[in-house]
Amino acid sequence: MRVLVTGATGRLGRVVVPRLRDEGFTLRATSRRPRTGDGVEWVSTDLATGAGLAEAVAGVDAVLHLASSPQRRTHEIDVLGTRRLTMAAGHAGVRHLVYVSIVGVDRVPIPYYRHKLAAEEVVAAGSVPWSVLRATQFPEFLADLLKGASRLGPVIGDRAVLAQPVDPADVADRLAVLLLAGPSHRVEDFAGPQVLRFDEAARTWLAARRVRRPLLPVRIPGRLGRELRGGGLTTTATPTGTRTWADYLVDTYGGTGGR
Ligand SMILES: NC(=O)c1ccc[n+]([C@@H]2O[C@H](COP(=O)([O-])OP(=O)(O)OC[C@H]3O[C@@H](n4cnc5c(N)ncnc54)[C@H](OP(=O)(O)O)[C@@H]3O)[C@@H](O)[C@H]2O)c1
Repeated sequence: MRVLVTGATGRLGRVVVPRLRDEGFTLRATSRRPRTGDGVEWVSTDLATGAGLAEAVAGVDAVLHLASSPQRRTHEIDVLGTRRLTMAAGHAGVRHLVYVSIVGVDRVPIPYYRHKLAAEEVVAAGSVPWSVLRATQFPEFLADLLKGASRLGPVIGDRAVLAQPVDPADVADRLAVLLLAGPSHRVEDFAGPQVLRFDEAARTWLAARRVRRPLLPVRIPGRLGRELRGGGLTTTATPTGTRTWADYLVDTYGGTGGR
């Protein structure tokens, strides 16, 4: 199967590309910058302008759409860019578009999630048969969040916020199955094997890095706080990934990671 992977240089893309390649998929991969290597054909595309999209989708059986811009021009890139991609893929006769979204996009009032939900709708309204997989946060994202939360010294956060980090390698395996299964619309959400409270994630992260910092509890107000504490970023869906937060901490920082 010939597959175009958008966002192939991102956190997920970097894991997905070798995984799918080793499974025998023939891959074309996108970045805004010219690239070579990794045993795949690279094409330069920009979702913000549509540049390179027609060439990128020509002759592929499926598109795995991972590209996203959470920090800047999100509407332009995630929503309108996804529309540009689905239209180009439709013209090229692509038979399956797989979009990766996030668990809780319809529940948790984070501006980025509004755009992700709108992009899901664009995919569902497009002419290319589709699948949407919502995944929970990757452990690297949680670690970045903890880094940011401890910039001032103590780890500042709402102790009772729940997360269920899923390893990109597990997501990559799930995506390979979805590509082979063909268009399936919204499939079962995909999460990691454990639900963690923020204070537990912070404690184990500090221990793995052998750092001593107090936790400074704050309570996130309003609906955002209620959803984050009430499991808006988690799911009871099964199967889950297998790799745990502790596995990530051991691989990243060594030690036991609380295992
Ligand atoms: N991070 C998480 O915890 C998480 C959890 C669940 C689902 N997801 C979803 O999974 C997908 C991948 O996430 P990620 O964390 O791997 O993302 P990421 O690391 O932020 O990578 C974003 C990718 O998007 C590409 N990109 C950005 N702007 C672009 C533009 N204008 N045109 C074309 N490509 C552009 C970048 O490619 P270049 O810079 O090479 O152009 C990069 O490869 C996203 O849809 C995200 O919402 C993420």
